[in-house]
Amino acid sequence: MNKHRDIEYLNEISYGYWKAQVLFVAVEMGIFTLIKGVGKSDKVVARKIGTDHRATEMFLNALVSLGLLRKVKEVYKNTAMSSRYLVKDRPLYQGDRIRHFHNMWDYWTRLGVAIKTGKPTAFDDAEKEVDEQRLRVFIKAMHNIGTIQAEEVCRKLHLKKYSSLLDLAGGQGTYAVRFVEKNPEMRAVVFDLPDVIKIAKEHIKKSGMGGKVTTKAGDCLKVSFGKELYDFVFVSNLLHIYEPDENRKILKKCWDSLMENGIVVIQEFVLNRAKTQPIFGTLFSLNMLMGTHKGSSYSEVEMKEWLRDAGFKNIKRFNPGLESGLIIGYKL
Ligand SMILES: C[S@@+](CC[C@H](N)C(=O)[O-])C[C@H]1O[C@@H](n2cnc3c(N)ncnc32)[C@H](O)[C@@H]1O
Repeated sequence: MNKHRDIEYLNEISYGYWKAQVLFVAVEMGIFTLIKGVGKSDKVVARKIGTDHRATEMFLNALVSLGLLRKVKEVYKNTAMSSRYLVKDRPLYQGDRIRHFHNMWDYWTRLGVAIKTGKPTAFDDAEKEVDEQRLRVFIKAMHNIGTIQAEEVCRKLHLKKYSSLLDLAGGQGTYAVRFVEKNPEMRAVVFDLPDVIKIAKEHIKKSGMGGKVTTKAGDCLKVSFGKELYDFVFVSNLLHIYEPDENRKILKKCWDSLMENGIVVIQEFVLNRAKTQPIFGTLFSLNMLMGTHKGSSYSEVEMKEWLRDAGFKNIKRFNPGLESGLIIGYKL
């Protein structure tokens, strides 16, 4: 029995990329959006998106086997999951997050090279680094994740206690907007690189929070975040881009920017002490090996030490759910 389970496990890992490709291509072709509502037959799907009929039938059947579609007589319909997360313009749409994973495919095929050289493989094609379209997909992917994750974070933190937020490396401002919606007394600044701030401005305007959420463009490695301006600094998914010394400097600047009794909240994919679990965190570390110059996933022990050395007290860890962890510290 166990022998079979082992073989199944190895097989499951080995063909995992087949499943991923089916999802990537379905999102790319907009299948779930096309068949929303009453559904469509394979023939109609093939005609609408201009694909081969025989191939389309196989493809839709595979999506059914993955639980992403249902087949009722000859009509393919969305499941509850695909209807909620994979139909464009639904509030919890996750298609950009999936497209972002698809975009990483290319450099993941060069994992062996990265392990040999210790160097990233994502920048082999120099043009990709500055591709605006890819940046947009990346920032929208962060928004898809943040839309879900912000609710988890709101459940763990007493947002009503804070009135001035710095959302450091805040992307398009997903968390800042949501936190201010939850606590209308709060004012927030979204800080990020200039190209990202352009996208943040669009999102903030669309959210109607323009009076309460403002932006600052800059490089967090180079500039100060000000002195004693905020009572809440949120640092979500930034530290894994940089090496420990850079992160120590960033956290020291967070400390400087906080008022007395202020709080810093780090959100990351937190590893255990041995750095061997959880699975997503260890794989994400490889993603940083290939996708950044010096980044990595870090352990709870490492991040707590950086916070302590920056001067923070009362340091604690929370698990808000999904893959992320929160590590908080106070300026007392
Ligand atoms: C993984 S995203 C996380 C975005 C957002 N905090 C979230 O959790 O959804 C990392 C963000 O850090 C920003 N970033 C990276 N390096 C930065 C730097 N040196 N200065 C300012 N922002 C930076 C990126 O532009 C991006 O928006």
